[in-house]
Amino acid sequence: MIWWDDYMILLDEPNFKTRLSKLLRTSRIGKSIFLFNELDSTQDYAMTLPNSESLHGTIVIAKNQNMGKGRIGRTWISPEGGLWMSIIFRPNFSVDNIIFLQFIGALAVVNAIHEITKIDCKLKWPNDVLINEKKVCGILVDVNLENENKKIVMGIGLNANIDSSSINNFLNNGNLKATTLKEECGNDIDLLFLIKSILEKLEHYYDALLSRGKTLEIIDSWKEKSEMFGKKTIVYDGNEKFMGHVIDIAQNGALVMKLTDGSVKDIIYYSDVSIQT
Ligand code: BTN
Repeated sequence: MIWWDDYMILLDEPNFKTRLSKLLRTSRIGKSIFLFNELDSTQDYAMTLPNSESLHGTIVIAKNQNMGKGRIGRTWISPEGGLWMSIIFRPNFSVDNIIFLQFIGALAVVNAIHEITKIDCKLKWPNDVLINEKKVCGILVDVNLENENKKIVMGIGLNANIDSSSINNFLNNGNLKATTLKEECGNDIDLLFLIKSILEKLEHYYDALLSRGKTLEIIDSWKEKSEMFGKKTIVYDGNEKFMGHVIDIAQNGALVMKLTDGSVKDIIYYSDVSIQT
């Protein structure tokens, strides 16, 4: 059963919610679901939801987005068939942990894709999910610290049941090409089970993040899934450009690079990261 193809279920929001709720083995993430045929951006919708509706774990999903947002003001092409979802967190941890939210979003997606398709994805620091060096998913984390109730929204843009030709022509993804699950698997994926799996894994990692000391475990899991180590890498941060090799991920989540002049630099701010083949 392919969820998006089952138009009645998509339009019948209570039915979809019931099915997802019945399937979901989470305690908070996905307990409140907003589902739309079309939105400008699930991220903007989630960010502007009033506090009273922004319960921790609330998810917003749209079948397609007219103005999907990527990192650093880029457009995220979001046609029907993809998974365009934002998750609201009401954290009580320090904003220093935000980079770890990007890590756990990407890890949840990698593990869910493996569970459903057996494909082994790789991670590019800090939050891109790749298959065969092409981007299949991006994570966007937006933060609102204006009022005393912090709100963080994690956007997951996963090219699921679409053709990469429908996005590559419009792509503005740095030097990365896009791929899709449909292309990599040769068939459509059941998005209902994919969402269930992502949300369950996200909750597992989020709980680990909240418990003291688990950031190191998250870093280790992230490192296991990354192929960046030892590869020639260029990091752009505004007008600055750092060239060298990735040697580690620091305890604060920074990318540790040995630069071409022999110095070692921890990179936490970046606009683009390019791995050279
Ligand atoms: C990136 O640039 O890699 C991050 C892309 C994030 C896209 C997702 S799709 C769901 C959510 N809504 C948006 O407008 N953007 C995020």
